[in-house]
Amino acid sequence: MTEPHTVAFPQDRTCPYHPPAAYDPLRDERPLSRITLYDGRPAWLVTGHALARTLLADPRLSTDRTRPGFPAPTARFEAVRNRRTALLGVDDPEHRVQRRMMVPSFTLKRAVELRPEIQRIVDERLDAMIAQGPPAELVSAFALPVPSMVICALLGVPYADHDFFEAQSRRLLRGPKAADIEDARDQLEAYFHELIDRKEKQRDPGDGVLDQLVHEQLREGTMDRPELIALAIILLVAGHETTANMISLGTFTLLQHPDRLAELRADPTLMPAAVEELMRMLSIADGLLRLALEDIDAAGTTIRAGDGVLFSTSVINRDEAVYPAPDTLDWTRSARHHVAFGFGIHQCLGQNLARAEMEIALRALFDRLPALRLAAPPDEIPFKPGDTIQGMLELPVTW
Ligand code: HEM
Repeated sequence: MTEPHTVAFPQDRTCPYHPPAAYDPLRDERPLSRITLYDGRPAWLVTGHALARTLLADPRLSTDRTRPGFPAPTARFEAVRNRRTALLGVDDPEHRVQRRMMVPSFTLKRAVELRPEIQRIVDERLDAMIAQGPPAELVSAFALPVPSMVICALLGVPYADHDFFEAQSRRLLRGPKAADIEDARDQLEAYFHELIDRKEKQRDPGDGVLDQLVHEQLREGTMDRPELIALAIILLVAGHETTANMISLGTFTLLQHPDRLAELRADPTLMPAAVEELMRMLSIADGLLRLALEDIDAAGTTIRAGDGVLFSTSVINRDEAVYPAPDTLDWTRSARHHVAFGFGIHQCLGQNLARAEMEIALRALFDRLPALRLAAPPDEIPFKPGDTIQGMLELPVTW
């Protein structure tokens, strides 16, 4: 099934905020291409914006990774494919029940209520970083602790355990070996078992999302422990790693675009539009995974039942038909309708929270440090490989 356009997927980016140059052949008008996964298996890659939104809303595409033939982008993923997951790894109707239970904790209203707490955390981290620098390593001093503290407060997970769970999340997402990811998953499961035990014994539940789930769903028998643990893991991991990458890579990108940064500094009301445009441009979750359950006619061809279907958000979000001059950062364009938070029933549960965190963190960082700049040549600063969530591995800065 090799065609002239078959490209290996995923591949490393050449610049941390552009799609890999190796995906250039996929960036023509065709909305659907053939790709080859790491194990040589062929799959489809959706690259057109309109087709992506149609297919991401199509119930014939499953996210249930335990189904035979579910496409694996890496050997690591294959190794834990059969573990219990929640939300992202389950289809309706089970997904609908879990999502309904979680939505009230992640509404726009809830994100607005959390803003003062997010601002407090951001200010505290900046105070600490400024007291110790310059220079600073922005990922460990700011970009990671901010979302990590926010998600801990929201879930009711002690931030004192952050070294442990940040390290396990890192292994879960990046390995390097399949054994690492299995072990990281085991350790996180054991951690939440113990945390849930402690919460069950508390007479007065705390006000975290997990406290609520323990005292309402678990006690009432509407949720079992493995389900609660799977939920806790996805909320904790998705809740800090992704946003941390957006803050670090967003900062790097802004520092590489001084004119855009000056516009943002001159008019802070641009920040919500800027966050949306950065989400589009950076598309850090690049390679959403689905399995076709039935034959689906798309783009003049047929996706067969059993085929793997992947979505390159970085290429989709540069579809010229929707975003003119797509490789240019532009606060005045309407970046809305990007698919960097996904689309359809699995569209990011934490997007309101993530937007609030990005707006507050980036605004405070550039307000407090008017002379912020990179402390190393940009092409020497390491960023993440293509087979995981994209972001900076380190970000040395000074001011
Ligand atoms: C800027 C940061 C973030 C990005 C780029 C991001 C990206 C995404 C994407 C692309 C999806 C859909 C995946 C798919 O359809 O295959 C998703 C789903 C999800 N995200 Fe986020 N996310 C971010 C922040 C967060 C935060 C802060 C949370 C908080 C808990 C979170 C929790 C989730 C959950 C639970 C799902 C699965 C939803 C479902 O299946 O119903 N994310 N995210």
